[in-house]
Amino acid sequence: MTYQELSQEELLKIKAELVDEYEKFKARGLKLDMSRGKPSSEQLDLSMDILDPAYIADAKAQDGVDCRNYGVPLGLPECRELFGELLGVPARNIIVCGNSSLNIMYDYIAQCMVSGSGAEPWMLQGKIKFLCPAPGYDRHFKVLESFGIEMITVPMLEDGPDMDVIDELIKDPSVKGMFCVPKYSNPEGKVFSPAVVRRMAGLKPAAKDFRVIWDNAYFVHDLYDTAPELLNIFEACREFGSEDMFIEVASTSKITFPGAGVSVIAASDNNIELIKKRMGVQIICHDKLNQLRHVRYFKNADGIKAHMKRHAAILRPKFQAVLEKFDSEFSGLGIARWTEPQGGYFISLDVLDGCAKRVVSLCKDAGVVLTGAGAAFPYGKDPKDSNIRIAPTYPSVEELSLALELLCICVKLAAAEKLTAQK
Ligand SMILES: Cc1ncc(COP(=O)(O)O)c(C=O)c1O
Repeated sequence: MTYQELSQEELLKIKAELVDEYEKFKARGLKLDMSRGKPSSEQLDLSMDILDPAYIADAKAQDGVDCRNYGVPLGLPECRELFGELLGVPARNIIVCGNSSLNIMYDYIAQCMVSGSGAEPWMLQGKIKFLCPAPGYDRHFKVLESFGIEMITVPMLEDGPDMDVIDELIKDPSVKGMFCVPKYSNPEGKVFSPAVVRRMAGLKPAAKDFRVIWDNAYFVHDLYDTAPELLNIFEACREFGSEDMFIEVASTSKITFPGAGVSVIAASDNNIELIKKRMGVQIICHDKLNQLRHVRYFKNADGIKAHMKRHAAILRPKFQAVLEKFDSEFSGLGIARWTEPQGGYFISLDVLDGCAKRVVSLCKDAGVVLTGAGAAFPYGKDPKDSNIRIAPTYPSVEELSLALELLCICVKLAAAEKLTAQK
């Protein structure tokens, strides 16, 4: 029976029991942080060998370049090859940067604001807008907010953003772009279907300087061998000649080390030229020793894929623990819905409308910090106040089980509070 079908009396009884369970949890003095999608120490241990000094002892790239010194601003050719192979683009269309793809995205938006993306600088074009599939990655939204770019929410469907809504919105020439996480979207873990990727490639925006930031952060982060394939966006673009519309980024933050990996841009010849010009002012070169280390450690795309299977072996039980718990606690109650991702770093939980903030605050008061309610929406405002991002990667399975126990109590308690108040 769903909570909605229960009588007021039954609900009040359940609520009293839940309050009791909640208070017991509170008394245990838990201290767990599940707010960000970070790899666990066990995952970080997988990459420790990359720090073996032997990998960079000679410090010489394939062409003899001394990686200790300035030079090679677009990245070592062998590193561009490696990521070209992984992303399915020629090495000439890859730039290897520093440790952070978020940094690349910020800089790219800054470049468009100041110098334009092949047309007048965005900052001289009056009010400009970006499309934001939501729920989405909070840091994308923060970047846009920091530049004063107006955000327009686009609903996410099962196979990607609602393309009909996008087709309408891009008729407005002040809509200059869009952020996407096409594989294992943050936080829902959805993968854009081939049809959606093709429609993205074929978009006909009124703004000729429209840019899509194709943030492929989870491109090799599959949990299962049956992982869905993401269509190569640049291959899809060929039919429409729309390569200039897409800037793809990725990084090894969740392959080797966040903050100490390498990040990459994949872009058309025209865009590579513009980015190169800006970077030429901004930086002399990135960390080539780290690039060399990554290439020598992984050797090729297969090396990275094999490494990701070891990550998956650690992550699968955590994702399964969440899904099994939700299934056993919420099935048939009508108070929660959740996604079942095949990869990535998150699970998205939707509780009863108007209850997400309450759930997050109940958890916090009992010692479990979740991502702030609303964080996955532009301006931090979830219109339904229902979405909660679950980040199961960092805690151990035992810690996760405890946190889930509490979370489930809080979801039910918030639902019982809401429904009893309505009756
Ligand atoms: C979708 C997405 N993009 C980018 C990042 C940050 O990547 P980086 O460490 O390369 O800056 C994250 C981190 O959680 C993410 O989820």
